[in-house]
Amino acid sequence: MLKPKKLANNNFLSSLDITIEEIFHILDLAENFKNQDFNIELKNKVLGLIFDKSSTRTRVSFQVAMSRLGGTTIDLNPTTSQIGRGEPIKDTARVLSKYCDVIAIRTFNHSDLEEYAKWSTKPIINALTDLEHPCQALADFLTIKEEFHNLKNIVLAFIGDGNNVANSLILCGALLGVEVRIACPKGYEPNPFVINKAKEINNNKNALIITNDPNSAVSGANVLYTDVWSSMGEENQKKEKDKDFEGFTIDTKLVAKADKDAIILHCLPAYRSKEITDEVIECKKSRVFEQAENRMHVQQALLSCLLS
Ligand code: CP
Ligand code: NVA
Repeated sequence: MLKPKKLANNNFLSSLDITIEEIFHILDLAENFKNQDFNIELKNKVLGLIFDKSSTRTRVSFQVAMSRLGGTTIDLNPTTSQIGRGEPIKDTARVLSKYCDVIAIRTFNHSDLEEYAKWSTKPIINALTDLEHPCQALADFLTIKEEFHNLKNIVLAFIGDGNNVANSLILCGALLGVEVRIACPKGYEPNPFVINKAKEINNNKNALIITNDPNSAVSGANVLYTDVWSSMGEENQKKEKDKDFEGFTIDTKLVAKADKDAIILHCLPAYRSKEITDEVIECKKSRVFEQAENRMHVQQALLSCLLS
């Protein structure tokens, strides 16, 4: 029976914090949890959640994952704790790590997450920052692996903003040897550090393609992926971005250019008729709800590895 292995890194702040072997281990464990092949007991273990931004999937899937493992969760709402009053992260992190066994944080600046990790004596998990969404990428690759049975020769085309979700897909994709194509309007390319890092990891010429042409990106792709054009915290840029992203909607015409067995992913929440049409998100190729379910299974696997 597969047993959760301790990860080399104490924290999961970035897709870069785990090795390819660890990713496959987490995906295998997640599949076992999903098939209810075994149960790991994390009785008396406590997960703290600090969410500076809204969340449905991440918050609830972490809570349910922890509860299924026999542990408990404390929702440390920044507005009702002293976090919102501006208590220094180095103090909050040292105090909370005396009470909690692991802490998942959703915040704006990635450097704040790193500051938590620096001072916490317990594992810190990135539940989304402006730079990365690594838990999402694990669920995405589990969904792809389930569909195609393995990740060999997979081409993933991400159409939209070069944002946190795109960055984690690029890094996780590079580790897994998946060809990732990003199609975004000029000026909305992914983080240059992320691009360079991915090229360092996987120096195959076609491993990562950044283009401004959605049609060439989806040509023959196995997975079409998109996310909102304006992320949380970018509400004041919405009007401008809606205009800049015209032509980057995943619609049936674009889907027709992908491989005939291609699937559609979206991390959700979605703005139908902006980055994706209602018809596409509801079509037979869409796996968005399987993908959302998989958040819970990979996080169960991740928690059991971090706490084993
Ligand atoms: N995909 C995702 O992270 O969704 P939430 O914002 O609802 O957590
Ligand atoms: N890029 C989006 C993802 C939401 C899950 C955001 O950061 O708002």
